[in-house]
Amino acid sequence: MTQDELKAQVAQAALAYVQPGALIGVGTGSTVNAFIKALAASGVPVAGAVSSSEASSRLLAAAGIKVLDAAAVTELPVYIDGADEIDGQGCMIKGGGAALTREKIVADLAQRFVCIVDASKQVAVLGRYPLPVEVIPMAAAQVARRFAAQYGGEAVRREGVVTDNGQHILDVRGLAITDPAAMEAEVNQWPGVVSVGIFARHRAQVCLLGTPTGVQTLTFA
Ligand code: 5RP
Repeated sequence: MTQDELKAQVAQAALAYVQPGALIGVGTGSTVNAFIKALAASGVPVAGAVSSSEASSRLLAAAGIKVLDAAAVTELPVYIDGADEIDGQGCMIKGGGAALTREKIVADLAQRFVCIVDASKQVAVLGRYPLPVEVIPMAAAQVARRFAAQYGGEAVRREGVVTDNGQHILDVRGLAITDPAAMEAEVNQWPGVVSVGIFARHRAQVCLLGTPTGVQTLTFA
């Protein structure tokens, strides 16, 4: 089974978490693109979507799904998004598509985070995937020095990328994130960090894991 087929499989499975007639939160990335396609094809009616990126908003609009401003919404029943890595507690690394800040904002509105990934994203300890951090450009060098000094990580700017919020992304290699909640809390309060791509506080409650033998549903307390 190809990775695209695994993504299509979890995208289809995620439809079970969409309440007909309700709002949904929609993430960003190739797995989410497959979900938007599946949602449009399913005919399941939704009241609208709060999107985590301009790219997803465009796809949703093209599929005829109304896109709502996050400011107009107080709560979402569910947020559906992919991840770059997910551990055994539902903590994730996200931001491979540079949308981490808006993803965390939409996840914060949601009662339930349903993560859709193929099995290659499942890890015991987060950090093999370079950790994305959105930073205000003025702070980038100082944030990179802090990662080296405090965690032994090497932070490199993602060249040519400017986020939907007009900021830069650092990708941090060489981390073993054994305590995701602690690192998330620490890095988030460094001056100039817009947000760090560790989702521990906003971890997944459900993970739909695409495997060659079918979709596994993992739930986290
Ligand atoms: C975007 C993200 C994505 O969820 C993550 O990069 C996974 O993407 P894909 O589904 O393409 O593998 O965090 O910022």
